[in-house]
Amino acid sequence: MKNVSILFLLIIASFMNVSAQQTVIKVSTNETDLVLKTSPLGRIYQAYFGEKLLNESEIQALSHFIARPSSDGSVTPRGWEVYPASGNEDYFEPAFAIQHNDGNMTSYLYYKSHEVKNIDSNVKETIIRLADDKYPVEVTLHYMSFAKENIIKTWTEIKHNEKKPVNISKYASAMLYFESPAYYLNEYSGDWSKEAQLSTQELKFGKKMIDTKLGSRAAMHAYPFFQIGLGEEVKEDKGKVFVGTIGWTGNFRFTFEVDNVNNLRVISGINPYASTYELKPNEIFTTPEFIFTLSYNGVGKASRDLHAWARNYQLKDGKGDRLTLLNNWEATGPNFNEEILGEWMHEAKKLGVDMFLLDDGWFGNKYPRFDDKRALGDWEPTREKLPNGVQGLVKKAKEAGVKFGLWVEPEMVNPKSELFEKHPDWAIKLPNRETYYYRSQLVLDLSNPQVQDYSFGVVDKILSENPDLAYLKWDCNSPITNIYSPYLKEKQNHLYIDHVRGFYNVIKRVTDKYPHVEIMMCSGGGARCDYEGLKYFSEFWCSDNTDPVDRLYIQWNFSQFFPIKAMAAHVTSWNKAASIKFRTDVAMMCKFGFDISLKEMNADEQKFCTEAVANYNRLKRVILDGNFFRLVSPYDGNHTSVMHVGESKDKAVLFTYDINPLYKEKYYPIKLQGLDPMKKYRIREINLMPGATSRLAENDKVYSGDYLMKIGIDAFTATRLNSRVIELTAE
Ligand code: DGJ
Repeated sequence: MKNVSILFLLIIASFMNVSAQQTVIKVSTNETDLVLKTSPLGRIYQAYFGEKLLNESEIQALSHFIARPSSDGSVTPRGWEVYPASGNEDYFEPAFAIQHNDGNMTSYLYYKSHEVKNIDSNVKETIIRLADDKYPVEVTLHYMSFAKENIIKTWTEIKHNEKKPVNISKYASAMLYFESPAYYLNEYSGDWSKEAQLSTQELKFGKKMIDTKLGSRAAMHAYPFFQIGLGEEVKEDKGKVFVGTIGWTGNFRFTFEVDNVNNLRVISGINPYASTYELKPNEIFTTPEFIFTLSYNGVGKASRDLHAWARNYQLKDGKGDRLTLLNNWEATGPNFNEEILGEWMHEAKKLGVDMFLLDDGWFGNKYPRFDDKRALGDWEPTREKLPNGVQGLVKKAKEAGVKFGLWVEPEMVNPKSELFEKHPDWAIKLPNRETYYYRSQLVLDLSNPQVQDYSFGVVDKILSENPDLAYLKWDCNSPITNIYSPYLKEKQNHLYIDHVRGFYNVIKRVTDKYPHVEIMMCSGGGARCDYEGLKYFSEFWCSDNTDPVDRLYIQWNFSQFFPIKAMAAHVTSWNKAASIKFRTDVAMMCKFGFDISLKEMNADEQKFCTEAVANYNRLKRVILDGNFFRLVSPYDGNHTSVMHVGESKDKAVLFTYDINPLYKEKYYPIKLQGLDPMKKYRIREINLMPGATSRLAENDKVYSGDYLMKIGIDAFTATRLNSRVIELTAE
């Protein structure tokens, strides 16, 4: 008996010994620590994720969620394992699942080593190597932390050296754990012209999944981002919030699982649906990046952190300027000719925007593109519409004094096209079932390198023949239909993943060769909006729904995750009940453009728009690069307001909108944010209709930042669809 207890003590002591050598890895920003720690068994666990901890000794001693010896001397390996694999002791959803050559479906990943690379004074990359002890399988976890912006992005590499290929059926980018009395999920769902609609639900025991199976884009019915209020519902300016988004322009999946002890597990990655991936020996499977932040002061702070991070590190040309534009789609559709376009270019010049953007309908000769049922794939200008081709248009734009931009959709084909007649096997399409269509088109099979070359070649030809072309609107109007790749043959399970990788190959080649061209990511409205895509695209089109009232909600929601300069918004003729001023004021809070002919406006409206463009040009750096504050939510009542504050806090722009004021409603002053309390700001209402004078009580007066943030401005009105743009200048 005595011997048994001595043995027991020895076991505990030996574990304590091992435990003394446990490895602690800290992934930190200026505000947040993610602490990972190995257990005595050598596997790695999430020990802490939250507000920065002050005491190093306490960080080293963290043990709560780590597998450790229990009182009977046994070691329970259950805990918050960082990358749990299927077949091990955890009973919940794993991050990783593999079938080895011998048919075994389990994996235990042990910590091997780690290194921390200082990318620069603000950015660190932590690389952690794990390996199975029974099979030659390696998993490498990458964490890139951005100190000042309080953002972490993480991705995983999977590799093996078994004799034959293995199958991986789960390959998350990341898994994170939370312990909180309650979890409130903000998810964003929608459809064409109903993008990113917010809904909230409390997460209770069990799983909630958000995923898509659209193939060629991430979004439409569900969006690749979410927010979780930890302990209470997500609020703008207070409370702890976890915000995550996946950089993958294809099928994604977020799994939120509340377990038996009310802890939350969040798994993010590619949607493994129909995508068990066969990995060859020594081939590396790299997952997409999962980007996340924790805010301790509500979601407004998280948005500003994401915006700053995206501008500084992720978004194509994140620090650069953006071109204002006039687009013809809403007014002409595909019905135009060179002469009509010449008039549009002159209108663009008159408006004062930088560029004219020619939309869909300029190509196809055997099947000229007069509707959306033909010509995709035949990228030759239609002779009867454009006898002098794209070159003629670029020249015409130059003569009119504006830049020229062009719409393309190089990942698609219409069955009624010369391309399809020549290469029917380049389209994703089932050989043995009736074909069904989304918008009368098919998705080209970008898992096929030959098709990638073709797709790149289309854009390369246009850009090399037209070196002055300044901008592309790159559309993707169809999800993948009839899911079958003639190229992949018996490896259909690779299609969803290899197609997206093929798309990146194409767009990367384009942006590498033509880095100066601004490219809009468009997908039948706002169905492409993810942070991997935005490495190659300088902005995205939020929605074909340009009704300014609907847009206030859509823009409010996209701004939760994406910087203002990446969100394109145009003035159109949707909702004529709203004045041109209201429509303009709504578009002007984002990356600004027009998609309406001046002919649809009277002289005052034209003058107003010209002045609005001049105001925008003057305030562009504040609107596009400033800190963005959502002040009054459209979900909270009948009004909404946002503001942009320039980096030096010398300039700010406030936008206010009365959507649906009620009779005898009491208005509250709008309390501003982000100003310097000690500075004095002159208030000036701009964007007034010709002849109108401001009726804002504070107009042309000077107030301290302190006053404006504590007392505020009385800018809301009783007039339905009224709006104000207010410029603040420090004196
Ligand atoms: C969908 C886009 O969202 C629209 O703006 C327009 O470019 C059409 N495609 C053209 O087909």
